[in-house]
Amino acid sequence: MAIRKVGVVGCGLMGGGIAQTCAQSGYETVVCEVSQHLLDKGLTRIYAAWDMMASKGKISQGQLEENRSRLHGTLAMEALADCDLVIEAVIENMEEKLRLFPALDHILKPGALLLTNTSSLNVTQMGAVTKRADKVCGLHFFNPAPVMKLVEIVRTISTSDETLETVREFALSLGKTPVLAKDTAGFIVNFLLIPYLLAAIRMLENGMASRDDIDAAMKLGCGYPMGPFTLLDYVGLDTTMWAAEAIYDEYKDPLYAPPPLLRRMVQSGMYGKKSGRGFYTYE
Ligand code: CAA
Repeated sequence: MAIRKVGVVGCGLMGGGIAQTCAQSGYETVVCEVSQHLLDKGLTRIYAAWDMMASKGKISQGQLEENRSRLHGTLAMEALADCDLVIEAVIENMEEKLRLFPALDHILKPGALLLTNTSSLNVTQMGAVTKRADKVCGLHFFNPAPVMKLVEIVRTISTSDETLETVREFALSLGKTPVLAKDTAGFIVNFLLIPYLLAAIRMLENGMASRDDIDAAMKLGCGYPMGPFTLLDYVGLDTTMWAAEAIYDEYKDPLYAPPPLLRRMVQSGMYGKKSGRGFYTYE
């Protein structure tokens, strides 16, 4: 199946990054948000990224303008009706996803693929509330979506071979390397990454080492681009907590139980870089 027009639901950190990636890869892209304020904020971030790429000579002025002309923001979900493939990237809340999926199923044309960027929630359940479960799968991007080379394709029991092949080709066309994961909580990356991040928080809680020393140790000792606290702030403490809770719900493995410090910080609105404060403070 040929993909020409892509829809993205949500223009936050992930949705915006995904919409940017699709538009700059040549797809007509419609990104849908729930309020003008959130849409403007998301589009401003994307335009700033393109301006930065142009100022570094990574894209020409002409390409910048073409990218902009391919990207359309909307508050009306009906604008996704003629998309060939739609990627849901709203908040990591199952109730929200289960409300959204039947609504999207109703709006989308027959044959359109319906994908979720969820990092750890049950994709099978999302497909099951639609009449196109064979056309539903996960396509999980990593933050920052335009830069990180990996996507996880998550296959449910109902996803068809044809859908998988189309999504694999689509991922390659975005310049990404796809890996295939079963629909089990955390897929591949978060199943491994979340225990590491939570262990760093427990080390700090228990006074075993300082924030800066833990970050420096993992950055310089293991060659990671960011230490765990910088990465937690970058990904979002709220997002990390939701992912941890979802995996904990499935396995009841204490490795995935959010530590009290993480919960308290999220309860205090300390979400990391996006809220100005997490383990570090941002201007
Ligand atoms: N669009 C286009 N290009 C962008 C961009 C954007 N939105 N954001 C950054 N870039 C480019 C920069 O222009 C820069 O390009 P050049 O090297 O050509 O100059 C390059 O990306 C690197 O950016 P910076 O120079 O600003 O900073 P950096 O070298 O420190 O790299 C980083 C930043 C890529 C984020 C790097 O620190 C990194 O890889 N960190 C780890 C990120 C990570 O692990 N992400 C996964 C998190 S887990 C997740 O997302 C899943 C989940 O479900 C929780």
